[in-house]
Amino acid sequence: MGKDKLRRFEENKTFACLYQPEFEEVFGVDYKMKGRWHIDHFGNKKPIVLELGCGRGEYTVALAGKYPDKNFIGVDIKGARLWRGAKTVTAEGIPNAAFVRSRIEFIGSVFGTDEVSEIWITFPDPQIKRDNKRMTSPPFLERYKKFLVDGGIIHLKTDSAFLHNYTLELVRQNNLELIEANDDIYGSGRADDLLSIRTRYESVFLGQGIKITYLSFRLEREAIISEPVWDSDAYDR
Ligand SMILES: C[S@@+](CC[C@H](N)C(=O)[O-])C[C@H]1O[C@@H](n2cnc3c(N)ncnc32)[C@H](O)[C@@H]1O
Repeated sequence: MGKDKLRRFEENKTFACLYQPEFEEVFGVDYKMKGRWHIDHFGNKKPIVLELGCGRGEYTVALAGKYPDKNFIGVDIKGARLWRGAKTVTAEGIPNAAFVRSRIEFIGSVFGTDEVSEIWITFPDPQIKRDNKRMTSPPFLERYKKFLVDGGIIHLKTDSAFLHNYTLELVRQNNLELIEANDDIYGSGRADDLLSIRTRYESVFLGQGIKITYLSFRLEREAIISEPVWDSDAYDR
């Protein structure tokens, strides 16, 4: 492991805004913060918004600055990336942003019923060959239902036409409420103050001339969600 990574891992241990549960603390058991984020971390009752697969946490940090009336938590498994966001939050004293180092598969152990109001998913791997690993697939939506408020909003920003169209079909075929779908936010002029926040991966994809898409929908707790029937071969990325 590189020296820089080791240094980041060491510094990560000092950040009050970064939680790094051990495997034993989330595997089949409730993490100590589950149901306690408002009281024990933020000290207020403002809505909590998650960014899943947040990488360096660009959205989490930027949203926290734009919306002081909400709390933001970025989740990712990579500590060296989370370091960037946690360092900024610590250095700038941003009170309404935090990070969790965890596999998203375990976040049902980290957040309790109704604890989260919205979810952002920013540039996830589209997992073209592995349906069950896709962050908007039925198994993941089932996980989110356990802690997202009923009808809570999920935002997906991606460079992947495959993932965008898969998710759009899933939303339509399962009769979820689609709020918005845009297949080229910059080309269509839709990239406003909120959607033009750029993550590291987004900058790379934009540099390659790839279109950036966005969609948002509501996840009802009662919804029974199944895989969509669609032409997955029509997209190669
Ligand atoms: C393509 S990167 C995007 C990072 C960031 N959102 C951006 O736009 O720059 C995907 C991120 O998801 C994280 N990730 C992928 N699968 C994950 C999982 N199962 N649990 C937690 N994080 C995961 C990776 O570590 C990586 O940082």
